[in-house]
Amino acid sequence: MKRACVIGWPVGHSRSPLIHGHWLRTYAIEGSYEKIAVEPRDLASFLGNLQARGFAGCNVTLPHKEAAFRCATVTDPLTRRLQAVNTLFVKAGALHGLNTDGAGFLMHLKASDAAWAAKDGPAVVLGAGGAARAIVATLVDAAVPEIRLTNRTRDRAAALAREFDGPVVVYDWETRAAALAGARLLVNTTSLGMAGAPRLVMPLDTLPGDATVYDIVYAPLETDLLAAARARGNVAVDGLGMLLHQAVPGFELWFGVRPEVTQTLRDIVVADLRAGA
Ligand code: ATR
Repeated sequence: MKRACVIGWPVGHSRSPLIHGHWLRTYAIEGSYEKIAVEPRDLASFLGNLQARGFAGCNVTLPHKEAAFRCATVTDPLTRRLQAVNTLFVKAGALHGLNTDGAGFLMHLKASDAAWAAKDGPAVVLGAGGAARAIVATLVDAAVPEIRLTNRTRDRAAALAREFDGPVVVYDWETRAAALAGARLLVNTTSLGMAGAPRLVMPLDTLPGDATVYDIVYAPLETDLLAAARARGNVAVDGLGMLLHQAVPGFELWFGVRPEVTQTLRDIVVADLRAGA
């Protein structure tokens, strides 16, 4: 029987067991996916003994993503640029670390808006935290011609822009509305608009009608930003799909089947989010 798990501290909030549990049942795989609370001081020894504990790999959530990157012995260039992992797997005795946040972001964007093509125009990214780093790196790799980055703390955006040669330009947070002119994609990676967080103030008047608006917040599913985008005819993409799609590579690596993100899975997670709200 193959086993995987999600580790965090705390780990109670993680929806990963729901997602992987659904796929294990759907594909009738004899396997398990557990939730394990691992204290930061125990992380290195837990990961060092992952295989000995019987696990094919694991997901990593807060606060372990950076420390887990340092524990991984094999990583790819994108993951090294992000210096953070959310997925680990053991292969030929080596601990491989991956960051699938960006891939999840892009898979969900393509699944939600078949018309979107990276080369079509600039992307505006709000925020400069860990999620923004993964998304900016993914957009750069996808060859988006210009990425306009804006963040409350300008220095953080400037530091992130410096990590990428060229296409990332920084806008002041106060002038973020001006960044929308001619944009093909707007992405909110900040926590603004999340249940319990302050509102996101983002006037969309200058956003082209064919632009796609993507909010990585998924609680609530329909944020004010997405409602405003939909009301003026823009394609609106919610954050839940990113959460579901980022789980795909791990499941395939551990259990050998590439799982599908279906409406049924979405409904299961939405029901759980509603129950927890
Ligand atoms: P994550 O790693 O999940 O992206 P993070 O590093 O805490 O989380 O980043 C949160 C993002 O939301 C940051 O861009 C943050 O802006 P700062 O860099 O200025 O902190 C942004 N954010 C959080 N609260 C905000 C607020 N009240 N107004 C504007 N931006 C906010």
